[in-house]
Amino acid sequence: MTVKKETKPGTVPQTMNAVVRREYGPVDNVHIETIDTPAPGPGQVLIEVHAAGIDRGQWHVMAGRPFLMRLAGFGITRPKNPVLGLDVSGRVVAVGDGVDRFSEGDEVFGVANGSFANYTIADATKLAAKPEAISHEQAAVATVSGITALQAITDVGKLRTGQSVLVIGASGGVGSYVVQLAKALGARVTGVASGAKGDLVRSIGADDFIDYTSTDYLNGSKTFDMITDIGGRNPLRKLRRALAEKGTLVIVGGEGGGRWTGGIGRQIRALMLSPFLSQRLTMFISSESRELIERLSEFLESGQVVPAVGRTYSFDQVPQAIADLDAGRALGKSVLTVR
Ligand SMILES: NC(=O)c1ccc[n+]([C@@H]2O[C@H](COP(=O)([O-])OP(=O)(O)OC[C@H]3O[C@@H](n4cnc5c(N)ncnc54)[C@H](OP(=O)(O)O)[C@@H]3O)[C@@H](O)[C@H]2O)c1
Repeated sequence: MTVKKETKPGTVPQTMNAVVRREYGPVDNVHIETIDTPAPGPGQVLIEVHAAGIDRGQWHVMAGRPFLMRLAGFGITRPKNPVLGLDVSGRVVAVGDGVDRFSEGDEVFGVANGSFANYTIADATKLAAKPEAISHEQAAVATVSGITALQAITDVGKLRTGQSVLVIGASGGVGSYVVQLAKALGARVTGVASGAKGDLVRSIGADDFIDYTSTDYLNGSKTFDMITDIGGRNPLRKLRRALAEKGTLVIVGGEGGGRWTGGIGRQIRALMLSPFLSQRLTMFISSESRELIERLSEFLESGQVVPAVGRTYSFDQVPQAIADLDAGRALGKSVLTVR
């Protein structure tokens, strides 16, 4: 396979290493392969990967669970793209036809399907210039979780300055961005995670911390203007008890909701119930766009949001990284260092 334009002749090799799984299933399916370096098509760029973020979503695309997600374009019986990874930070080494926003040599970050590799292709519309203020490792863990967090509290939740926000799952990928973005937007933030993660949650700016393993924080003794529900899969009736009379619940996700639908029924029930309540119950599926990545980038450039990089892993440690994430051992965002 040939690469259209190269920074210098011979810079981009014909083959590369990539972390792949050819079938959906357990982490044992994940291994390193030498495969052809991809070539950018129209509207795409080829990125030399410096670092790639490892998030919860990678467990799902590895396992093919919930089954519903396979219908969303990932491949019904086996993965369409065998290479794992979505979050990326690196350098553009070739551009496809019709791309005028980026040139060879530009440092970029964003989403690229198959970023756990030496090189990956990305749609130019899903990238932004890497903020100079942050490292490639930090940029690599920013997009997937950061734009989800940004949409949750702004476009969907419509957070206003001075409001109180409960972040359920504050120590994880999405939650660590919700805490920081909500603080940057002038909210008072209470973060929920297991006790061992309390120091992290406070260090990223939460005003208060609650350990969900020892506290019944949804008993109604305290209410919040907004709840972002990222972990724990609490029932709606409990979440509503801790929501102010005119408060907003934004359901982001939560693990363990069943093999077929991942428990999406809770989100659907929230949407159906909401019109009959003074409280607003809502959910969303994160979208990826240049506009969102650039909005996030402003917070990263200004230092108002600092990606909470946790452990770094090498190519051969990716199976371990995914297992750590699945077991709740990750602290903040895990990153694969490629260069
Ligand atoms: N709607 C969307 O478009 C969208 C986009 C991205 C992600 N998601 C979903 O959002 C969820 C979170 O993703 P993530 O990347 O942030 O995952 P993550 O990094 O694994 O973080 C999960 C968080 O939930 C907390 N948690 C776990 N069990 C809990 C419980 N019983 N009660 C309260 N908190 C609990 C964890 O705290 P401890 O580690 O201390 O247990 C951690 O802070 C996933 O289900 C993911 O699929 C949805």
